[in-house]
Amino acid sequence: MKADLIVGLQWGDEGKGKIVDLLAKSYDYVTRYQGGHNAGHTIVVDGKKLALHLVPSGILNPKAINIIGNGVVISPEALLKELKQFDSIDGKLFISNKAHLILSYHAAIDQAKEKQRGENAIGTTGRGIGPSYSDKISRSGHRIGELLDTQTLAKKITEQLNENKAYLDSLGVAIPSFDSLKEELELYKKELSKFIIDTTDVLWKALDSQKRVLLEGAQGTLLDIDHGTYPYVTSSNTIAAGACSGTGLNPKEIGKITGIIKAYCTRVGNGPFPTEDFGSDGDLIAKNGHEFGTTTGRKRRCGWFDAVAAKYACRLNGCDDVAIMKLDVLDGFKTIKVCVAYEIDGKRVDTMIGDVTKAKPIYEEFAGWDKVKGVKEWKDLPENAKKYIKHLEKLMGVKVSLISTSPDRNDTIFLGNEE
Ligand code: GDP
Ligand code: IMO
Ligand code: MG
Repeated sequence: MKADLIVGLQWGDEGKGKIVDLLAKSYDYVTRYQGGHNAGHTIVVDGKKLALHLVPSGILNPKAINIIGNGVVISPEALLKELKQFDSIDGKLFISNKAHLILSYHAAIDQAKEKQRGENAIGTTGRGIGPSYSDKISRSGHRIGELLDTQTLAKKITEQLNENKAYLDSLGVAIPSFDSLKEELELYKKELSKFIIDTTDVLWKALDSQKRVLLEGAQGTLLDIDHGTYPYVTSSNTIAAGACSGTGLNPKEIGKITGIIKAYCTRVGNGPFPTEDFGSDGDLIAKNGHEFGTTTGRKRRCGWFDAVAAKYACRLNGCDDVAIMKLDVLDGFKTIKVCVAYEIDGKRVDTMIGDVTKAKPIYEEFAGWDKVKGVKEWKDLPENAKKYIKHLEKLMGVKVSLISTSPDRNDTIFLGNEE
């Protein structure tokens, strides 16, 4: 058996949560492989909304077991807060003993560094994601499995922090005392130990016994640490390849890869965004799409669909198919634009390979439509909406398998071979 994968193709918030929840009924395991509580994945069922940050979006499915893989960075404080909203999660959640810890000093460092960057700030979520991954890569981080011996862990952490005291002082970051840190870690151990195991072993056994596994990406391709708009990116490999290192599955164990993409573009935080619309169209997309962050509440920057970026993302991830989200948000626009190439230093460029800081969009225009919201079948879509989808499919070179027409789980069109 192979594991299927869901990955964001833009700058995050594409609607991954909705799709993972929707598909989870056909899977035995749903697994997060990177990121942390910078993610905010929203699920809406019968008008009831659930925002998830660390818990995989399969959690509402009675059957699926949810796994937080080794590539995730975990704030136990944020996780415990999130778990409070569920009655019983025992046996439904497992956490990799190799996932790295985020503690409060990571968030303090993240926020202090952002302040220091001033106008060059990345616009992080301030959750400590970058500092935790930095510790991991520099081999001074701590795995959540180390919680099993809190005495040793608290000692190691306080010693490390004290070795870096001058730097932390310069950032205004306080070092916790050994006793307070040990007490905090004891609480996390008490509450979380039962979930912590080697999840690679669980996933291998699952695939070996023909169980179905769904991998849930966080953030999006254009925020990838290597292939995104560096340095305005997150600190993990958000692309499909990250799922292998983030779970222990090998590349041959990855099956179908589905890219999730909005019918337009958004971005939270700073950095290049070629199709950003600073006028009334951008405002209207933000208003219709309720484009405010699930994690930080920040207003998302909005603009038109970027087919150059989409093609790049499909190639990087090896998408087998694509789900187009939030098509209803474009209801009522007279004209809809799609970026088909960039102009960079006076030259036409049709790839996102290279620096897009100075890229200006070259648009094609499409006639708009009125009512897509809530449509559940292809045949009920307005003709212009059908044309739009078919055109995006052609530009991306990847089949559209699903169209989402509202936040609700049920307002979804599954596509076969419609013409
Ligand atoms: P994720 O991070 O990729 O899971 O996406 P978020 O949950 O951060 O943001 C997507 C937002 O759009 C959420 O508020 C969803 O409830 C909402 N949403 C998802 N699909 C649709 C859709 O087809 N139409 C509309 N109007 N909203 C949607
Ligand atoms: P989901 O999973 C959108 C952005 C931040 C910032 C950059 C770095 O909900 O799609 P970080 O805190 O990760 O160091 O911030 O990445 N960012 C996201 N944007 N959706 C997300 O997650 C994001 N997670 C991080 O806004 O620009
Ligand atoms: Mg989100």
